[in-house]
Amino acid sequence: YDAVDVIRIKRDRQKLPMDAIDWVVDAYTRGVVADEQMSALAMAIFLNGMDREEIARWTQAMINSGETMNFRALSKATTDKHSTGGVGDKITLPLAPLVASYGVAVPQLSGRGLGHTGGTLDKLEAIPGWQADLTNDRMMEILEDVGAVICAAGSGLAPADKKLYALRDITSTVDCIPLIASSIMSKKIAEGTGALVLDVKVGPGAFMKKEADARELARTMVDLGTDAGVNTVALLTDMSRPLGLTVGNALEVRESVEVLAGGGPSDVVRLTVALAKEMLEAAGVKDPDVEEALKDGRAMDSWKRMISAQGGDPDGPLPVATDTHEVTADEDGVMTEMDALAVGVASWRLGAGRARQQDPVQAGAGIEIHAVPGDKITKGQKLFTLHTDTPDRFDRALDSLRGGYTIDPQAAEGTGARDDVVL
Ligand code: URA
Repeated sequence: YDAVDVIRIKRDRQKLPMDAIDWVVDAYTRGVVADEQMSALAMAIFLNGMDREEIARWTQAMINSGETMNFRALSKATTDKHSTGGVGDKITLPLAPLVASYGVAVPQLSGRGLGHTGGTLDKLEAIPGWQADLTNDRMMEILEDVGAVICAAGSGLAPADKKLYALRDITSTVDCIPLIASSIMSKKIAEGTGALVLDVKVGPGAFMKKEADARELARTMVDLGTDAGVNTVALLTDMSRPLGLTVGNALEVRESVEVLAGGGPSDVVRLTVALAKEMLEAAGVKDPDVEEALKDGRAMDSWKRMISAQGGDPDGPLPVATDTHEVTADEDGVMTEMDALAVGVASWRLGAGRARQQDPVQAGAGIEIHAVPGDKITKGQKLFTLHTDTPDRFDRALDSLRGGYTIDPQAAEGTGARDDVVL
């Protein structure tokens, strides 16, 4: 094949031949197909789509581009979770140790944040001493001993995706179902987990703004996983507003610890419990009472062992930002809306996120949320506390936050309240 031929086939809305997919993904990984050619092909796929057979082959070609792992040497079943990403989504932190407390192994290969969504590794790195990079041998040891590992994915898994994802990010070809599904599932299948629960986010703060699109993405990924022998299920969950009451690295760790201590915001608890049940059932544990494991200290014990195993001090103080700013209500009314994207961007501007892959993040930066849609608000009431080490960032963060919530003087209490985070 020639890259120009492959691009033309998809440009002209034809189905890509299976061997053309194998060739183009491999040649791109080796640098034989140039970035500008892959950009054109990604845009042709974005515009004209791929059918199930093409998506499955594309996924397999990305898996074949690198190494694969397997956990067959472990004495336990493995189960993993992937979220398509959102604002305040700290669920992995309480979830992995909670599930591991049942004797199931949770190999959670995670990433850092880019743009307005936070990354699990950035959050955990707020804990003094905690290390994201582990050798495969050490990862296996911790899985056998503690059960839960949250660490950086090695560069050997699906390198084609790593290259392609960076290219999609700068060519406006990220939010495309065939490309998202193959990107996520190539990494999860290469990782070798036995079971996988997908948390597919829907709403303004997510890649998928509409429920029908999220459902299509979920179905595509479940089919890819199932066909590859991974016991895969998906939940659709709400990302119209932030999850929980904190956004930002150390702030989210604090909230996760509250959940592990049997408290925490009800939406975070509800989603953690729903995903834990799915993960355990997918790994063969029948009717687990996970609420009880959060209340009786089992999950907390597992969290402390997980953090210690990676060099962190689970009882040490978390970093706190040097400066805070409070946002208060200008009028009486009811909060009827809060936009996850606006809050995510504000937190990012405070220093919790990064604009470029190599930028550092501030551990203490972010936002505490004091009121949520449905709440009655009185003038002067505290709505948000902004945290940063660089107070000249407050103005730009406030610009984003100001458009991000609505207080309606006429609305009845409860207007806009979320029924359930699991759709
Ligand atoms: N997460 C991924 O890993 N890949 C995508 O394409 C989108 C989200």
